[in-house]
Amino acid sequence: MRPLTVLGIETSCDETACAIVRGSAPGPGEILSNIVFSQLDAHRPYGGVVPEIAARAHVERLDGIVEEALAAASLTLSDVDAIAATAGPGLIGGVMVGLTTAKALALAAGKPLVAVNHLEAHALTARLTEGVEFPYLLLLISGGHCQLLAVEGVGKFKLYGTTIDDAVGEAFDKVAKLLRLPYPGGPRLEEAARQGNPKRYALPRPMRGRAGSDFSFSGLKTAVRLVVDEGGVSVADMAASFQSAVVDILTDRTESAIRRFKTDYPDATSPGLVLAGGVASNGAIRGALTALAAREGFQTKIPPPRLCTDNAAMVAWAGVEHGQLGFFDDIGVSPKARWPLAGAPLGGSLSAPANRSV
Ligand code: KG4
Ligand code: ZN
Repeated sequence: MRPLTVLGIETSCDETACAIVRGSAPGPGEILSNIVFSQLDAHRPYGGVVPEIAARAHVERLDGIVEEALAAASLTLSDVDAIAATAGPGLIGGVMVGLTTAKALALAAGKPLVAVNHLEAHALTARLTEGVEFPYLLLLISGGHCQLLAVEGVGKFKLYGTTIDDAVGEAFDKVAKLLRLPYPGGPRLEEAARQGNPKRYALPRPMRGRAGSDFSFSGLKTAVRLVVDEGGVSVADMAASFQSAVVDILTDRTESAIRRFKTDYPDATSPGLVLAGGVASNGAIRGALTALAAREGFQTKIPPPRLCTDNAAMVAWAGVEHGQLGFFDDIGVSPKARWPLAGAPLGGSLSAPANRSV
């Protein structure tokens, strides 16, 4: 298929990002530019992302970041084949900023628009980086999501398991806060855990051994709080004990999903186990899941950390994959705060209009 060059925009949380990617399915693709502005400093005083502040910062920054991404790729808008933007799920103010900007660019340059599901963008990143073939098993672990999915194709997902309460990144962040580690907690907690004894505190492993692949983390967080409330907690030992519980839970739930995947796709030889989302940058988690995959005949595929956390290269790549299938969106497509990957129709207004070609 003819390679496509797509400009992608990501504004669904606290990163304002624009990237330009060229390629064709199944990948790998070429990242021509990838600009990410993290709003971390603006949110740090509040210990979490403040939606109003995020939306305002996206408005202030996005135009300049789009220009930067074009300049870094030595391209102009007329050189790209399509404009892609995250249309959900996420903080609605930010999503509106990114999607509206993408619509304006698409209209101004006469280019087709792709409204990208942020979760699908995370899910397809391993094709951008390594050209992983469908079907593969995806463990999506971020601040807002914790899911195991079979990825059959673009827009074709089977949900194997999801969290019944907190996302795993949220649990990392909340426990880090209990331990008074600075925001954002996940990476700090991993750092603290390196010096700690993972066996010091006996913590529960909710859902371990249960049928299916659902997750639960709120009981684990509560168990940490009870120990912390007693006083005298060792931050390093608690960080290590918590991380070790998370590793056990993720390993157990993924193992169960691997069994189901093997039944669902008996012909898939040496399929991929793909990790995505910010928590996939955690070394202990990467190590444990890589070992599990090797035991089960799966190949672990983990994008580099800067493509695991929120970025626009993954959005542009989702635009490449959609564009090659002729899946474009109407200029009237609406942003969505909620937009599950599986169990819902493929997109807001996906279509392959005959009058649009790339
Ligand atoms: O994918 P992401 O950048 O944003 C979304 O949630 O969409 O993920 C951010 C989450 C945060 O909860 C952060 O604490 C967590 O990923 N995280 C980590 C690590 N790096 C980021 N959690 C554990 N260990 C890490 N090294
Ligand atoms: Zn994300």
